[in-house]
Amino acid sequence: MTPQLIKFKNDGLLLEDEKSSDPKKISMTDKQTITMIAAAAQNNELGKNNDLIWHISEDLKRFKRLTSGHPIIMGRKTFESMPKALPNRTNIVLTTKKDYKPVGAIVVNNINDALSLVKDDQQPFIIGGGEIYRLFMDHCSRIELTRVHHNFEADVFFPEIDLTKWSLIAQEDFTSTKDQPYNYSYLTYDKI
Ligand SMILES: NC(=O)c1ccc[n+]([C@@H]2O[C@H](COP(=O)([O-])OP(=O)(O)OC[C@H]3O[C@@H](n4cnc5c(N)ncnc54)[C@H](OP(=O)(O)O)[C@@H]3O)[C@@H](O)[C@H]2O)c1
Repeated sequence: MTPQLIKFKNDGLLLEDEKSSDPKKISMTDKQTITMIAAAAQNNELGKNNDLIWHISEDLKRFKRLTSGHPIIMGRKTFESMPKALPNRTNIVLTTKKDYKPVGAIVVNNINDALSLVKDDQQPFIIGGGEIYRLFMDHCSRIELTRVHHNFEADVFFPEIDLTKWSLIAQEDFTSTKDQPYNYSYLTYDKI
């Protein structure tokens, strides 16, 4: 994988020669940073037939690195699209079903209960899917978006990011390689 361009819009966020997306280098205050993390293609495509569409192993490793040790909140459909609960993270699943008992996850029936469960963590993550990103858009203060520069058939989409409310604070671009055919970028947005 070849990093092509790293841009940092706010002074002091990251050093320009540090080709790393380690989240610890992005400024964090004492305030909680509820973070949505998603990979979306050119037209905001997220998934199809309750599955992911592409496979970018570096992005999956980054997802694991960023989210490990933090609670992750997801919709029931995303939870069911995974083989099992993700290790080293408290898995929280939103569903309207009152008797839902997934293995390895805590169930909540509304957004307030989800937020209250994660209130003591400095950076809880909202990991999808489309319905849950929409639901949490106004409750988050950061978006870690992997933008895949390609169009795909999809049936679930990431919501539009309103640039009057969100500011792009970091961008890291990668070109395709023989192992994975798509150019992609890590985009970090903070709520203005
Ligand atoms: N590319 C990415 O980064 C990424 C990340 C995650 C997921 N995905 C993809 O996204 C797709 C799944 O997304 P999706 O939008 O279909 O489903 P989803 O957001 O994962 O889950 C939707 C479910 O969440 C529950 N829910 C939603 N709002 C709720 C509320 N206010 N209160 C309680 N429960 C609520 C409902 O569960 P019940 O029906 O049980 O009530 C609803 O059916 C899959 O294709 C997956 O692979 C992609």
